[in-house]
Amino acid sequence: MCGIVGYIGTRAAHSILIEGLQKLEYRGYDSAGVATISEGQLTRVRAKGKLQNLRQKLNGLEDPARVGIGHTRWATHGKPEEHNAHPHTDTQARIAVVQNGIIENYRDLREKLKAKGHSFRSDTDTEVIPHLIAEFLAEPTEGALSGQSLFLEAVRQSVNQLQGAFALAVVNADYPDELIVVRQQAPLAIGFGQGEFFCASDTPAIVPHTRAVLPLENGELALLTPLGASIYDFSGHRLKKHPITLNWNPIMVEKQGFKHFMLKEIYEQPGVVRACLEAYLNVDWQTDSGYSPVRLGLAAPLLQALQHIQIVACGTSWHASLVGKYLLEQLAGIPTFVQYASEFRYSPAPLMPNTLTIGVTQSGETADTLAALEMEQTRRTQSGTAAYQPRMLGITNRPESSLGRLVADIIDTHAGIEIGVAATKTFTAQLMAFYFLALELAYQRQTLSLDQIEAILDGLRQLPAQMELVLESQERYIEELAHDFVDTQDFIFVGRGLNYPIALEGALKLKEISYIHAEGYPAGEMKHGPIALLDAKVPVVAIAMPGPVYEKVLSNAQEAKARDAQLIGVVPMNDPEAEETFDSLLPVPVVDELISPLLTVIPLQLLSYHIAARRGLDVDQPRNLAKSVTVE
Ligand code: AGP
Repeated sequence: MCGIVGYIGTRAAHSILIEGLQKLEYRGYDSAGVATISEGQLTRVRAKGKLQNLRQKLNGLEDPARVGIGHTRWATHGKPEEHNAHPHTDTQARIAVVQNGIIENYRDLREKLKAKGHSFRSDTDTEVIPHLIAEFLAEPTEGALSGQSLFLEAVRQSVNQLQGAFALAVVNADYPDELIVVRQQAPLAIGFGQGEFFCASDTPAIVPHTRAVLPLENGELALLTPLGASIYDFSGHRLKKHPITLNWNPIMVEKQGFKHFMLKEIYEQPGVVRACLEAYLNVDWQTDSGYSPVRLGLAAPLLQALQHIQIVACGTSWHASLVGKYLLEQLAGIPTFVQYASEFRYSPAPLMPNTLTIGVTQSGETADTLAALEMEQTRRTQSGTAAYQPRMLGITNRPESSLGRLVADIIDTHAGIEIGVAATKTFTAQLMAFYFLALELAYQRQTLSLDQIEAILDGLRQLPAQMELVLESQERYIEELAHDFVDTQDFIFVGRGLNYPIALEGALKLKEISYIHAEGYPAGEMKHGPIALLDAKVPVVAIAMPGPVYEKVLSNAQEAKARDAQLIGVVPMNDPEAEETFDSLLPVPVVDELISPLLTVIPLQLLSYHIAARRGLDVDQPRNLAKSVTVE
């Protein structure tokens, strides 16, 4: 959470910083600010609220600075007010710092600094950092970086005092040719240009300028000057590091004519499924070919003789993992446990032997998911028992992320970057990864016949066209239907089996972007309590796809109807029974229930989108949320 950008080079810094912040606004939008240095002076401009407010303040301001830092904030310590907006400065306003993360020992540091005469002007944890740096600069000691810039040494000494998670960018009016960046448990990448360097907490702010990117590791800091980049660890040892080249097209981070990123990303789903099919499917596979139809590129021992699978994730990725659990258990016969990463890291299950641990995260930067995986890796390594040794797998659309560096085996979900805070195409892509993982395991363990595998693959191959059909045939109708729910206060979503996680996902989408209270339940659980909520004011969305639980869901829907609830059905096309049951229909092509989640989720995404848009809300940047939750 929070977006950091920085620039040093030969071009005017202001516009580069603002452009970068715009690309990162999905990481926080409580306030924004920039600090630049020119002619020995530090200029800082900050504004409460969205970036637009900062833009207005900067309008008409001529600033020749060639170095600067910027920040878009998701408030943790201190209300979203201008005095809490980053950058923060030292007492003399010579040093400016932007931070992402949380400094856990800031109270203690602040008291010590106050006792030395430093005065504080914000309620943030960040503000101690420029004061600490000023303190080390005022009394320079012979440090590990002797011979290097005193400013760099002061930053290095300061970060060694900090506890918690942080990514920083720091400038100093007395060192106008230096931009310093730091990473400790919060993402920070450097972009290498020609005679210029960029830094950002996420690569969309860098890719419009360069695809040569170096993501810093935890415990590293870098000195950027127009002439070069030098990387050090926190002890002051110089490190040899080279940038990687990102395989990205800057167009991915544009709306391309859609009103919102979320709508664009909903429409990208057929393409994402095609990309997954192309990547994971052995095209010339035949049932008699003698090899697996799936190619995930994973190390062979990872999947051998597995007894258990445990999955850690948060939010929408957790919902995708619930679908994954169903597939891994039902297709490959492996007992699978899904845990919220934030719970797992503090109360993990006792160690189970021969267990694959999977971390699912679209951003690859979710703090809880990374911490849970790290904890599991450590406790398994330390167990000393062969059967408990870690087998770790990551599922993400951002293989270049922290997850990609933490875990050796990654399934790249080929969804590309997602900008809308509400996850849509990345969810679909995570589901595809789970279908193929389950099929690979089913093939290896012979839990499905080759004909059964081929039937599922055939279903998956048809999906892109079927998804296009849902988008084409449904959107206009859903836009109209959304009109009826602009003032609705509560929604219930129900499904069973594989479509129960889709009910959860439908409810999450609605609450996060429309702020309407919504809950998802397994349809069979309604009469154990939640049915008491129902009356004419509470619409019920039921997902009923042909399969073993179809009739059951229809009768659960009837029970809701008997309590006057307005019924919306995500149902198979041209199904007279469904037509009779529901007040409104969101039909999808008739497919095997096993692959139906990839279709049933689409009308629910569209419904949330159109209700939120009708309510005039900011769909891509809903209140209180940020795209990557990089703090605990
Ligand atoms: C999804 O719409 C949400 N924005 C949120 O629940 C998200 O899925 C969660 O924060 C996990 O993010 P990740 O996939 O990047 O780890």
